[in-house]
Amino acid sequence: MKKHIVLLPGDGIGKEVMESAKAVLNTIAEEFNHSFSFESHDIGGAAIDRHGNPLPPETTAACKKADAVLLGAVGGPKWDANPSHLRPERGLLGIRKELGLFANLRPIKGFEKLLHSSPLKEEVVKGSDLLIVRELTGGLYFGTPSERRDNGQVVVDTLFYTRSEIERIVDKAFQCAQQRRGHLTSVDKANVLESSKLWREVVEKKKQQYPDVTVEHVLVDAAAMKLITNPSQFDVIVTENMFGDILSDEASVLTGSLGMLPSASLREDGFGLYEPVHGSAPDIAGKGVANPVAMILSAAMMLRHSFQLTVEADVIEDTVESILNAGFHTADLKNAGKKVGTEEMTSLIIGSIKTRS
Ligand code: NAI
Ligand code: MG
Repeated sequence: MKKHIVLLPGDGIGKEVMESAKAVLNTIAEEFNHSFSFESHDIGGAAIDRHGNPLPPETTAACKKADAVLLGAVGGPKWDANPSHLRPERGLLGIRKELGLFANLRPIKGFEKLLHSSPLKEEVVKGSDLLIVRELTGGLYFGTPSERRDNGQVVVDTLFYTRSEIERIVDKAFQCAQQRRGHLTSVDKANVLESSKLWREVVEKKKQQYPDVTVEHVLVDAAAMKLITNPSQFDVIVTENMFGDILSDEASVLTGSLGMLPSASLREDGFGLYEPVHGSAPDIAGKGVANPVAMILSAAMMLRHSFQLTVEADVIEDTVESILNAGFHTADLKNAGKKVGTEEMTSLIIGSIKTRS
């Protein structure tokens, strides 16, 4: 298979972990006879420094022509005092919008060896392996009007969805559930919100198309509680934009480190942008100690969701798990075992892919 991938390393550890992901993808290409070509572009702080714009037009144009995009992270203290149009995050929000990415997928897995790295009790996190599917381009964050009125004494935000916007995200979630353990939890606030009533209606209708998936509706407040008291009951969770924002940050503590969490943001045709959940980590940037796992697992998600290379994605995910279970870990994870840096972690993963594939 021949694919062209745009790399947006960004700032801080984004650059370091991107090198790891690229090396892993090159190994996969060699082992499985694929041809991956790469093209790097600036985004965020790096792009402000070089082009005076957090999202230069050439970056956007290159992403639109690519088969998929990998992004590191943006930001850092150097640009914190900049006016809002010259902030690194502008690059991130801009590219997601330009590419029309409506579905955000965040898998969260409690790896056996890392259970004690979680702030929650080991027996609570044990066995948790879930995927949050968050609607990314609608809902409360984009609905209009959103404004202050009457000299600022009255405010309004709008939770707006069309039936087709709900249908496409719900479809995506059902398809993910089919590829996993076949259970979908739809999270809403249908006891109060009109938008949630339509959401529930759509899920109920759609489930006839996916008879192999079991469906459960949970109110968002109850879901927030269940996520930290009994996370292993979840397989796929689907929810609207703001609920998903909050629940995915809550769920991210299950694994113990931000350095473990990948994400995908997808368009309807399968095109996607893949990035770790973490930021540019200025406190450790340049030290060679960043955990590359979140970025590497993001590359695996790219193989799975944009290129349908399921076997290759499985190989990366299984290898990462086996290296962690063998006791190797970066400094962000506090397990007993052998502490390694970014490069050594990457080499271990690459070496193990070569022996198993
Ligand atoms: P952060 O995720 O960069 O770091 C939070 C803490 O986790 C730090 O102590 C960091 O060292 C650690 N950490 C994060 N990723 C790690 C990894 N792969 N390996 C080892 N340790 C890791 O979040 P923070 O500090 O709030 O933000 C730093 C900068 O990143 C800010 O400029 C912020 O705006 C930006 N940011 C960018 C994001 C993105 O590009 N998607 C997301 C979040 C923050
Ligand atoms: Mg958030």
